[in-house]
Amino acid sequence: MTSTARAVLEAFDLDAIGTHSGRVVVFADPETSLPRAAKRADKLTKGAVARAVASDAFAKLKPGVGLTLGWPAGLQAEALHLIRIPAKPDAKTLRAAGVCIGKAHGPQPCLVCADTLPIGALAQAALLRAYQYEAQKSDPKPPFGPIHFMARSPDTQRDALAQAEALARATHLTRDLVNAPANILTTTSFAAQIETMQALGLKVEILDEAAMEALGMRALLAVGQGSESPSKLAILQWHGADGPPLAIVGKGVMFDTGGISLKPALGMEEMTMDMGGAAVTVGLMQALAERRARAHVVGLVGLVENMPDGRAQRPGDVVQSMKGDRIEVINTDAEGRLVLADVLWYAQTRFAPSAVINLATLTGAIIIALGHEKAGVFANDDALAAAFLQAAADTGEGAWRMPLDACYDPLIKSRIADVKNTGGRPAGSITAAQFLQRFVKPGMPWMHLDIAGVALTKTESPYAPKGATGWGILALDALIRAKFESR
Ligand code: BES
Ligand code: MN
Ligand code: ZN
Repeated sequence: MTSTARAVLEAFDLDAIGTHSGRVVVFADPETSLPRAAKRADKLTKGAVARAVASDAFAKLKPGVGLTLGWPAGLQAEALHLIRIPAKPDAKTLRAAGVCIGKAHGPQPCLVCADTLPIGALAQAALLRAYQYEAQKSDPKPPFGPIHFMARSPDTQRDALAQAEALARATHLTRDLVNAPANILTTTSFAAQIETMQALGLKVEILDEAAMEALGMRALLAVGQGSESPSKLAILQWHGADGPPLAIVGKGVMFDTGGISLKPALGMEEMTMDMGGAAVTVGLMQALAERRARAHVVGLVGLVENMPDGRAQRPGDVVQSMKGDRIEVINTDAEGRLVLADVLWYAQTRFAPSAVINLATLTGAIIIALGHEKAGVFANDDALAAAFLQAAADTGEGAWRMPLDACYDPLIKSRIADVKNTGGRPAGSITAAQFLQRFVKPGMPWMHLDIAGVALTKTESPYAPKGATGWGILALDALIRAKFESR
């Protein structure tokens, strides 16, 4: 497991700037006089800081970005990091500064002279960015050193830092799960890992194939029937408040070969990330438990593996879902919606939730529409969608609303059954969402997040190095705070 850098909150001490080892971070703005930490660093370096801040190079920096002075004379540190920040930075600038700190962070300790800057926002981004997946290396990089935040009044910042740490740990858990190869993270080992989360105060149940068979979950079971790994449904409950829960449902396809409708070999290895929706669900439940959220939330993840085999389902098969609808399986590679159909229905019938949100790496088509920058947001409830888009904007996670409309239903009308599982290439992510909506009860506020483009990226993303991003933890946590938590 990847370890997050430890964040340490400290009282402001000008003398530490000279004596701290590793990296020292100070903030400055060419438009105003040097803040006291930068001034001390300037004095110790005999004017190097003031010259750097007055330079053309510094003037060209965007707010929240910095430059590094190596082995600065007069300091014990091996690097002095000057970050440009205006007198009253907005959240976006603080995040950028945090990312800058996290990106430069390594095994050495780091001292951030935050002084009056809000630590929560700064630490959040720094901790999120300081991530490396080394679990499969024989000779892993050393773990991250601690990041010390020096604050003018540390006691007022303690809560914000604890929340930032909980969200960073949750996001890193999600990334670890998404980065893990499918021979190591199987339905069984994932379920076992989820069970250990009971130690956090979560109630965990794992349904096996027999239990799901008894419930009539043939759509989910059909996806996993060609795999040696048994299908499972994991249910995590966080009972931090009374009243009906919010249900979060995640697609957990441990590996998606496409099944009999086999995917091409090129790039198939990426399908280890097809449990991204489940990983966000599990990470979010950990965050809620760690921060003892005053909310009632249930996370449900359907864990299956989609393999071609003598027992695998075939194109043309008709399967009956728990709801009762019969689905014609045109393409065994459109498996995520089969899994979600049953888990969505189970979530609503068992828990009568106040709202349902599902997350899934559901369609390649959403990547064509939105690239790797924004997740697709489909919702039958404008207020829920608006609140989520606001939360996503506030936390810096990309999201964009997509349409739901009955006019797309003819594309998934089946000749022989009630519905078919694909509608061809046009509007591929919308027909997938329309399919899911069949399994949402009338009047139930529901939102589907298609995260196929954002769960894993080949280049670095706003908060993460290349690879798994953990997209969604921050935005969903903010949504829960705003709309599902009693204060
Ligand atoms: N897991 C894939 C979607 C996906 C594609 C996720 C690329 C991440 C990156 C999903 O199960 C799938 O195969 N969808 C098909 C649906 C089609 C057969 C209707 C797709 O998008 O091609
Ligand atoms: Mn597929
Ligand atoms: Zn899939």
